Amino acid sequence: MIVAIDGPAGSGKSTVARTVAQKLGCLYLDSGAIYRALGLALAGQGIVKEDEVVFNNLSSILERLPLSFDVDEGNLIIRLSGRLLTDELRTPEASNLASVVSQYPEVREFATKIQRKLAFSGCAVVDGRDAATVVFPDACLKIFLTASPEVRAQRRWQEYRRRGQHITFDDVLRDLIERDKRDSSRQCAPMRVAPDAVVIDTSEMSISEVSDYVLSLVKEYCFGNSIRS
Ligand code: DC
Repeated sequence: MIVAIDGPAGSGKSTVARTVAQKLGCLYLDSGAIYRALGLALAGQGIVKEDEVVFNNLSSILERLPLSFDVDEGNLIIRLSGRLLTDELRTPEASNLASVVSQYPEVREFATKIQRKLAFSGCAVVDGRDAATVVFPDACLKIFLTASPEVRAQRRWQEYRRRGQHITFDDVLRDLIERDKRDSSRQCAPMRVAPDAVVIDTSEMSISEVSDYVLSLVKEYCFGNSIRS
């Protein structure tokens, strides 16, 4: 059973996907973390410079990156050269690197393969940009979460502040608008609403309202309403 939740940064998809996955006892597959880790690993090898990947044989470089992706108690565990990646993945720098490297078809193909392999156990809630359109087109439920840019930037800014990262609201809003543009205008697997997705505008909803709504949709779409809460 795959539930695919797509949407732009700050739409609430990671918190909602994590909550829904926990309630269902499924893997929470954070595809953004995979792209962030790939961005950090490629930058660490000097392969991303000034918003560009500067090597040609990207596929073989990707195969040889010292990254590992595992699942532990329903969560994705990512290591770079044996070191666990956690907070590093959540920095504005990692966000931007992810947005840059994710434009390259070789990187997307590689990340898609990893996601399908990790979801092999058969029960996963995936959050991403192309989870419903490309990676898991057969998902039993496809959701597209959205919210106004200002609301999304406010959520991201508060998240950075909670983590002690210093960045102004205006910079967060500017980065977010730039990233939205890059993510939805790239040639390969751009962020799109799948034709059969349920679109939810979360601007005026709390995370728990959205999660409850998504869970009710899971019952309806994936279990034909045959389980009780
Ligand atoms: O969801 P996130 O903010 O962690 O994603 C970081 C960047 O990674 C985002 O700007 C675009 C890219 N990304 C992607 O292209 N496809 C995905 N499935 C997930 C993330």
